[in-house]
Amino acid sequence: MNDLSGQNATSRAPDVTQAVALVPRINIQAFCELQETVNSIQTAFADRRMARAHGTVLTGGIDAAVRLYQTQSTPNLLLVESTAAREPLLESLASLAEVCQPDTKVIVIGHLNDVVLYRDLMRRGVGEYVVAPVTPLQLIDTIAGLYRSERAAPIGRVIAFMGAKGGAGSSTVAHNCGWEIARVADAETTIIDLDLAFGTAALDFNLDASGGIMEAILQPERVDALLLDRLLVRLGGKLSLLGGPGGVDKDFTIEAHAVETILTALRSNVPLIVLDIPCLWAPWVRFTLLHADHIVLTAEPELASLRNARAIVDLLKAARPNDQPPSLVLNKVGIPKRPEIPAADFSKAIGLEIAASVPFDPQNFGSALNNGKMLLEASPRTKAAEALRRLSRSFSAERAPAPAAASKSLIKKLLGRS
Ligand SMILES: Nc1ncnc2c1ncn2[C@@H]1O[C@H](COP(=O)(O)OP(=O)(O)O)[C@@H](O)[C@H]1O
Ligand SMILES: [Mg+2]
Repeated sequence: MNDLSGQNATSRAPDVTQAVALVPRINIQAFCELQETVNSIQTAFADRRMARAHGTVLTGGIDAAVRLYQTQSTPNLLLVESTAAREPLLESLASLAEVCQPDTKVIVIGHLNDVVLYRDLMRRGVGEYVVAPVTPLQLIDTIAGLYRSERAAPIGRVIAFMGAKGGAGSSTVAHNCGWEIARVADAETTIIDLDLAFGTAALDFNLDASGGIMEAILQPERVDALLLDRLLVRLGGKLSLLGGPGGVDKDFTIEAHAVETILTALRSNVPLIVLDIPCLWAPWVRFTLLHADHIVLTAEPELASLRNARAIVDLLKAARPNDQPPSLVLNKVGIPKRPEIPAADFSKAIGLEIAASVPFDPQNFGSALNNGKMLLEASPRTKAAEALRRLSRSFSAERAPAPAAASKSLIKKLLGRS
């Protein structure tokens, strides 16, 4: 009855398939009592979603925080853990309020699953109360929730598509998935073609090259809703494209920070972002993969794809321990006379299930291309279309999270001075 489950979203661990928002550039200090909580917070601080925030973890609980902040200013966000019962907890929070700057937000990690205490703390200006044990993703989600304003648009999901080798069909998979997601999930979806010179997104959709991405890459800090409105080329329905200029008459370099700035702007404007990443290895490619919400790796069932896919998957698993592994797509399966690595062996060697297996179908892919249509539109009843549809639906089921409730007022209220 007095249970917190169902009371506040953050008392439940977010599903790993759900988008967890990014944490802004804030200073965070945590004061824990239990080693388990220290570990969880340290893992959260090391996660890609918190890469922009600065976090430190200390022990000693609320008392240690009160002692420290008598002589130091408080950070943007304080995380304090307490194993105490209700009354002593409220007392130590009142002492903390005495030393807390007005704009510091406070998250309390407590050990009492008590809805009356929860409401009491919210009323007194605590930003959020979470019941221990907390998982790293739950913490990140709670922190991001505090900084998400009530009016802000839902944060978009970025799905990055890359091939394990050139020509594996990654762009084809990306464009078909984007087309299908926009249609079925009924969500604004933008395809970004990051293959600036040789990208095929415009060709695949029967358009002249749009070139809009160059304007964004050259002045990333200018990217906002207005500029995006001008640069995005509508492809019909809820689908739009931000493509490269095509051609080799200019030299292009992409900086990792430019991609970060553009993605941040896009995430607050578009619910679903499909990134078509060329098969090359550069700092910005690595950065983009590490910061995507989900990755789709397309490989052919042959040796070079296997070696490259394994290298990419190993890197991603190590660098994104709290994320789902990439979705592995086997494409061009069954090219006549080509010796192939069987799907089961491919899957075993990489340590990942095959998310979709798309047959080699030059006739239908070729004629879709010639007509400037997606295979899913031109030949919807083929086996290849069936595989691509199932893959797309596995992403559109993962919807962006709803905006969190407004962040709570200041801990100052604990003193009754609100
Ligand atoms: N399953 C398939 N069967 C036949 N042709 C395919 C298949 N998938 C992709 N293709 C074709 O392969 C070529 C390369 O595909 P593309 O998506 O540009 O590869 P990537 O982006 O990985 O370099 C394109 O002409 C595309 O139409
Ligand atoms: Mg491509």
